[in-house]
Amino acid sequence: MKINSICCIGAGYVGGPTMAVIAQKCPHIKVTVVDLNESRIADWNDANLENLPVYEPGLDAVVAEARGRNLFFSTDVDKAIDEAQMIFISVNTPTKNYGAGKGMAADLKYIELCARQIARVSKQDKIVVEKSTLPVRTAEAIKNILDHTGNGVQFQILSNPEFLAEGTAVQDLHNPDRVLIGGEDKDAIKSLVDIYANWVPAEKILTTNVWSSELSKLTANAFLAQRVSSINAISELCEKTGADVSEVSKAIGMDVRIGSKFLKASVGFGGSCFQKDILNLVYIAKSYGLHEVADYWEQVVIMNDHQKNRFSRNIVQTLYNTISGKKITLLGWAFKKDTNDTRESAAINIAQNLIAEQAKIAVYDPKVSEKQIKEDLISLDENQLKLIQVNQDPYEACHNSHAIAVLTEWDEFNTYDWQKIYNNMLKPAFIFDGRNLLDKKQMTKIGFTYIAVGSSNL
Ligand code: UDX
Ligand code: UDX
Ligand code: ADP
Repeated sequence: MKINSICCIGAGYVGGPTMAVIAQKCPHIKVTVVDLNESRIADWNDANLENLPVYEPGLDAVVAEARGRNLFFSTDVDKAIDEAQMIFISVNTPTKNYGAGKGMAADLKYIELCARQIARVSKQDKIVVEKSTLPVRTAEAIKNILDHTGNGVQFQILSNPEFLAEGTAVQDLHNPDRVLIGGEDKDAIKSLVDIYANWVPAEKILTTNVWSSELSKLTANAFLAQRVSSINAISELCEKTGADVSEVSKAIGMDVRIGSKFLKASVGFGGSCFQKDILNLVYIAKSYGLHEVADYWEQVVIMNDHQKNRFSRNIVQTLYNTISGKKITLLGWAFKKDTNDTRESAAINIAQNLIAEQAKIAVYDPKVSEKQIKEDLISLDENQLKLIQVNQDPYEACHNSHAIAVLTEWDEFNTYDWQKIYNNMLKPAFIFDGRNLLDKKQMTKIGFTYIAVGSSNL
C-alpha cells in the first residue's frame, strides 16, 4: 500500500515527537496526531513553541519545520482515522490499578477503545501499527476486535515499538540504533519500512514476527532497568566496604562484553516505562506458570524501591535521626534531565518519605511546573501539602535549608554558585547527591558535608 496519509492516536511523549520526526523526514506524507485531551492538542498547536506539552531538546525546531505543512494536531479522531491509510496507536498503557492483575498487568482499556473506534470509522483497508508498549499477544487481540466489529474492511496489524529515551527523543528518532517492525503481511511491513527508509539506513531496519517484536520491547527495557538495579545494588555494598561505585562502573564497563552505558548508580530509576514494563513481564511470566522467571525480573523493581527508600532513610539518619520541622531542598523533580516528565520519578517517593517524617520540603526543577509537582503528591493530605514549597529560583529553594538532595542530573546544577548557597544554609550543611553529579572535592572544600551514592564517607 502506498502511504500518503498517517494518523497517530495519542499525542503524548511518544506519539508527539515520533510523528513530528516522521513528518519532518517525509514531507510527502500528511501526518495527523489526534488526542482526546483538548488542552494537550491546543498546546501542540500553540504559536509559542515554548508551550509545547512535551519538553525535548530540539523538538521545537522539528515542529516549527513541519507543523502546518504536513504535520497537524487535532481532536477530530474520526476524521483522521477515516483519512489515513496507516494508523499508529500511541496511547498510554498504565499498570492496572484494579481487578485481576492489579499493580502488575498493563491496562489495555485505552488500546481497546482505539481498536473499536478504528473498526467503527474505517471504510477502506488500513494498516494499524502498535506503537505503545504492550504485553505480548496484544496485536492478536486488536486484530480480533477489528475483524469482528469492523465494516468488512481488511486490517493488517504491525508491531513497531518505540525505543526513544526521553530527553534525547529527537536525537534517538533521527539516528535510531534500530527500527523494529513485527508483522505477518509482507506488503504491510514494506509500507512501514518504506517510511523509515526515508532517513534510517536499511541495515538498521529489522523485521520479525509480531510476538518477537512485542517481547523485544519489554526485554530491552527489562535489561536496561536491570543494569541500573545491578549497579545500585553494588552501590550499597560500596558504601559499606570503602569501594567507590564510580570506579567499579568504569572498571567493569571497559569490558566490551558488559559495555559502559547504563551503569550510573542513582537514587533509583523512574520514568513511565521501566517499572511498568517489568511488572508486565512478571505478570506474563506468572500467567504461564513461569515462577522462577517472574521472580528473577521482579527483583529488579524490588531493588529499585529499596534504593529510593534507603536514600531517604539515610537523610533522616544523617540529620541526627529527626527531620521534623527541618527544611530540606530537593533539586530536580523530573525522572531524568532534559525532560518535564515526572512519571514514577524517584523524587515523588523521596518527598513522600521525607514528609512522612514531617520535614519541610522546598522543590526546584528547571522544567517541571508547580501544578505538576502538586498533582504528583495527590496522595498527601491537606496538612502535609502545606509542608511543600515550590520555588522558581534555586537559591531561594536552598535558603535556610538543613540539607539539599540532588534528585535529577540537570546540567545547570553544576553551574551554581555553591559558595553562595552554602553561606545561606544552616550548618552543618548537607548535600545528598542522588546522581553523583557535583564535584565532591569542591563541595567538601566549601564546607558541605557531601554524601554521594555508592562511596563511603569514612
Ligand atoms: C569468565 C569470565 O568471562 C572471565 O572474564 C573471568 O576471568 C573468568 O570467568 P570463563 O568462565 O572462562 O570466564 O568463560 P566465559 O566465556 O565467561 O563463559 C562462562 C560460561 O557462560 C560458559 O559455560 C559459557 O558457555 C556460558 N555462556 C557465556 C553462555 O551460556 N552464554 C553466553 O552468552 C556467554
Ligand atoms: C527508557 C528506554 O531507555 C527507552 O529505550 C524506552 O523507549 C523507554 O524507556 P526513558 O525511561 O525515557 O527510556 O529514559 P532512560 O534514559 O532509559 O532512563 C530511565 C531511568 O533510569 C531514569 O530515571 C534514569 O535517571 C535512570 N538511569 C539510567 C540511572 O539511574 N542510571 C543509568 O545509568 C541510566
Ligand atoms: P506515552 O508516554 O506512551 O506517549 P502519554 O500519557 O504521554 O503516554 O500519551 C498518551 C496520550 O494518549 C494521552 O495524551 C491521552 O490523552 C491519549 N489517549 C488515550 N486514549 C485515547 C483515545 N482513545 N483516543 C485519543 N487519544 C487517547
